[in-house]
Amino acid sequence: MRWLWVAALALVAWPVHALADDLLIADLQWLAIDANDATPLLFEPGDPVNPHAPASDEFWYFELGRLAFRSPALLGGLGGRHGLSCNSCHSSGGVNSHFFVDGLSDFPGTFDTTNALFSTHTDDGVFNPKPIPPLFGVAETAPYPADGRFATLEQIVDHVVLKEFDGLTPPVTVHRALLHYLKTIEPPDNAQDTPLTAEFALNDLRRLTKVLSWSTLTQNPETVVFTVNAIRRQLEAVHNRFSGVKPVQAELSAWSLELRTVRRLIDAEDRPGARAAAEAVLQRMETRAADIIPWQRKSLYDPTELATYLESRTASEAR
Ligand code: HEC
Repeated sequence: MRWLWVAALALVAWPVHALADDLLIADLQWLAIDANDATPLLFEPGDPVNPHAPASDEFWYFELGRLAFRSPALLGGLGGRHGLSCNSCHSSGGVNSHFFVDGLSDFPGTFDTTNALFSTHTDDGVFNPKPIPPLFGVAETAPYPADGRFATLEQIVDHVVLKEFDGLTPPVTVHRALLHYLKTIEPPDNAQDTPLTAEFALNDLRRLTKVLSWSTLTQNPETVVFTVNAIRRQLEAVHNRFSGVKPVQAELSAWSLELRTVRRLIDAEDRPGARAAAEAVLQRMETRAADIIPWQRKSLYDPTELATYLESRTASEAR
């Protein structure tokens, strides 16, 4: 039976090598970059503008859809666990032209959606990467994807979430919001890249937490829990970029615990309490941001610190 054991080992060993667990920046697992040019880790394409009247239902659906699109909480399997999201490939609704996974991409910006690494459903046993398409105006371009297997946007999105990335069925509202987001996004007028600074990251956490606050009073508990989980994972990513900066990490951990309280209150069906707790985190995020931002120079949002980190990674891989 020895050959069977060897075959089983070969099957599990490959995926383990393809992604790494010990990285402070999850995106490094799927970016083709070198230590001399960390630009893709310091910028992202300009974010589509929310076109709806602030505080309208459609405004919040867009915000919730954006949160889901950017969160690994939507995906399951290896991808979800390692921090992959729709946004990792379709960055800001466009194309991440640096996306590259060994064995699943032939050129940067391509990906084999029928693989065994991220999916227990769609493997076709063939190395057949496809270009990542931009998603602007995607509601008008049925059928999907390039080979037209799916008649509707809803069908392909469900296929991507549930089959290609082994996700669980998202809460109904999150599903609806994601489709709303995909149907609405347009490339921003000033196609400028957004610098990924600590300030940007903290602003984005506040933006996500506003969605949470809205959801506590208006949405079903599953949606609130999904939102809390998505924000906590985003917080973890920011926490990692502040590796070694103890005061900042302590503060971010406190936010994460407060978010857990929101979840506990929703589980106990205390909506007003959950709302108050969400507003309290938001308030804390607003007042503490100014203390955190100066620490950026010690973090992996700083180009020099980042270059040093990338060099140390390259050196340890070469050893
Ligand atoms: C690992 C990279 C990757 C991730 C993550 C990813 N996609 Fe894709 N997506 C692709 C590729 C590659 C294609 C093209 C597939 C083809 O042509 O067969 C595609 C195609 C699509 C299409 C069809 C577009 C068209 O014009 O036909 C939609 C819609 C889509 N993705 C939405 C999503 C959503 C929503 C998510 C998150 C739930 C997501 N994708 C996550 C790589 C990715």
